[in-house]
Amino acid sequence: MANKITLASILFLTIFTYSNAKLRHLKETKLTVYYQNYSSRPNATVIEIPGPANGTENYFKFGAMFSVDDPITEEFDEGSAIIARGRGLFVTSALDGSSSHVMLSVVFIDGEHKGSSIEIYGNEQRSMVREVAVVGGTGKFRLARGYVTFENLYFDPVRGHTILQSNMTVLHY
Ligand SMILES: *[C@@H]1O[C@H](CO)[C@@H](O)[C@H](O)[C@H]1NC(C)=O
Ligand SMILES: *[C@@H]1O[C@H](CO)[C@@H](O)[C@H](O)[C@H]1NC(C)=O
Ligand SMILES: *[C@@H]1O[C@H](CO)[C@@H](O)[C@H](O)[C@H]1NC(C)=O
Ligand SMILES: *[C@@H]1O[C@H](CO)[C@@H](O)[C@H](O)[C@H]1NC(C)=O
Repeated sequence: MANKITLASILFLTIFTYSNAKLRHLKETKLTVYYQNYSSRPNATVIEIPGPANGTENYFKFGAMFSVDDPITEEFDEGSAIIARGRGLFVTSALDGSSSHVMLSVVFIDGEHKGSSIEIYGNEQRSMVREVAVVGGTGKFRLARGYVTFENLYFDPVRGHTILQSNMTVLHY
């Protein structure tokens, strides 16, 4: 009996010490990036699935689903270096069209974080600054958690081009 208790305490202490040691090594990375988001054809990076019958996307229709593959740049300028792609889905998730459910992978294809990814997930309100959760990641962002903001800085209605500023605060090992 006494032996069992001792063994259990050692095991508990080991796990406790180990997880404590791991927690101390959490790093924080802060990044500001820009999504170049094109909603007009023929070179759209965001499309409704399935496409609307009359050719006009309606972002406010409850249940509407969109596929996205936006180039992500390090600078505001459209022509600046692409470091990642914002790939995923969003679904208009409020009955009145006031919010969107976002499932997005930031897939780094160049630069310092090439080969890693960050997973963004949650409810995006239609306000100036939107905040969504970071729920995971791969590569250097393994076990990531944090939050991300989106803010539209620029819109060209002719080309359907929006530039979104996105700030990510990510804790990871
Ligand atoms: C891209 O643009 C569409 C239409 O304006 C918008 O609904 C969507 O939230 C934007 N964001 C991303 C990350 O693609
Ligand atoms: C679409 O992309 C093609 C190939 O990159 C380019 O030649 C064309 O000018 C683009 N069209 C528009 C309207 O941006
Ligand atoms: C296309 O259909 C959508 C939804 O059914 C509607 O909101 C939109 O006004 C229509 N657009 C045109 C140009 O008829
Ligand atoms: C995002 O970061 C930029 C650059 O640091 C800053 O100017 C901007 O205010 C931040 N936006 C939000 C919503 O925090």
